[in-house]
Amino acid sequence: MEVLRVSLRRRIELDVEEYIRDKTVLIDKALDAFLPGEDEFPQTLHKAMRYSVFTGGKRLRPIMVMAAADAIGNESADVTGVACAVELIHTYSLIHDDLPAMDNDDLRRGKPTCHKAFGEATAILAGDALLTLAFDMIACKTSGRSFHKIMSIKELTRAAGSFGMVGGQVVDIESEGRDITFPVLEFIHIHKTGLLIRAAVRCGAIISGADGKELEALTKYGDAVGLAFQIADDILDVEGVTKLMGKNIGGDARKGKATYPAIIGMKDSRKRAEELAEKGVSALEVFDGKAEPLKEIARYIVKRKR
Ligand code: IPE
Ligand code: IPE
Ligand code: MG
Ligand code: MG
Ligand code: MG
Repeated sequence: MEVLRVSLRRRIELDVEEYIRDKTVLIDKALDAFLPGEDEFPQTLHKAMRYSVFTGGKRLRPIMVMAAADAIGNESADVTGVACAVELIHTYSLIHDDLPAMDNDDLRRGKPTCHKAFGEATAILAGDALLTLAFDMIACKTSGRSFHKIMSIKELTRAAGSFGMVGGQVVDIESEGRDITFPVLEFIHIHKTGLLIRAAVRCGAIISGADGKELEALTKYGDAVGLAFQIADDILDVEGVTKLMGKNIGGDARKGKATYPAIIGMKDSRKRAEELAEKGVSALEVFDGKAEPLKEIARYIVKRKR
């Protein structure tokens, strides 16, 4: 029985990894086709943008856009454009997050951070350009109804702006080295990371023409898994392996960052992340087998080593 369970589990793991690999090929191809070439003027800027976007990223957010679309199952909808837009916003956020004025990190996606490779001014501007390009991608490279595209833009601007990721990043920086309460910790994690993941899932569903009940279920999933993602990231900063993750570890403790392990301890952080992943999985009961990829992605997020 145990042997059967283990082999079944392996098969499921293998499936999610295969799913991730297949979607990554589609996303990378679309990003490559859309991003300005390195030889386009101003070359340094376009080189920096491509440098940060390509190789090393897990592409989990765009994959979640696609997995949400798969859950809705509208064959005529193409969510590739909106999936790429989410990855561009995410990559911009990483470039800025690594800047000396923020987390001051030297390694990202297995390479020197953008500001280390291109200088601070170019890194800031490459981030700005990627963020702007994301909306061009939705406007020009996303098929489907205009109303759905406008709804997606609304989702992403709210999730990424001052009431979303940027707001979370500000509180993250302001909380460095300070004693903060659990509600503030949760605010940071939901805002700096959770809301973009929730928006990714919602955009995939919106472009696919989801109904209210489906969108509600996916929102619950996105909320739970989005928070779990950042808890897992905090855990990996303590016990991860730089070579696998492509970024340096131990920085959170050194900088006195507000993290789950620092505030509730490692054991409870792990438990919380797993509970949230399962909460995300249960939110998808309204779907049939079509939500399997999303369910497995939730479990993968809290088990990942990178
Ligand atoms: C890292 O995100 C930043 C967080 C929001 C935690 P990822 O772990 O998804 O980084 P990449 O995209 O794979 O590089
Ligand atoms: C990053 O959180 C959140 C955003 C980029 C918006 P972290 O600062 O923990 O991410 P890593 O660990 O540097 O990837
Ligand atoms: Mg940070
Ligand atoms: Mg950081
Ligand atoms: Mg981190």
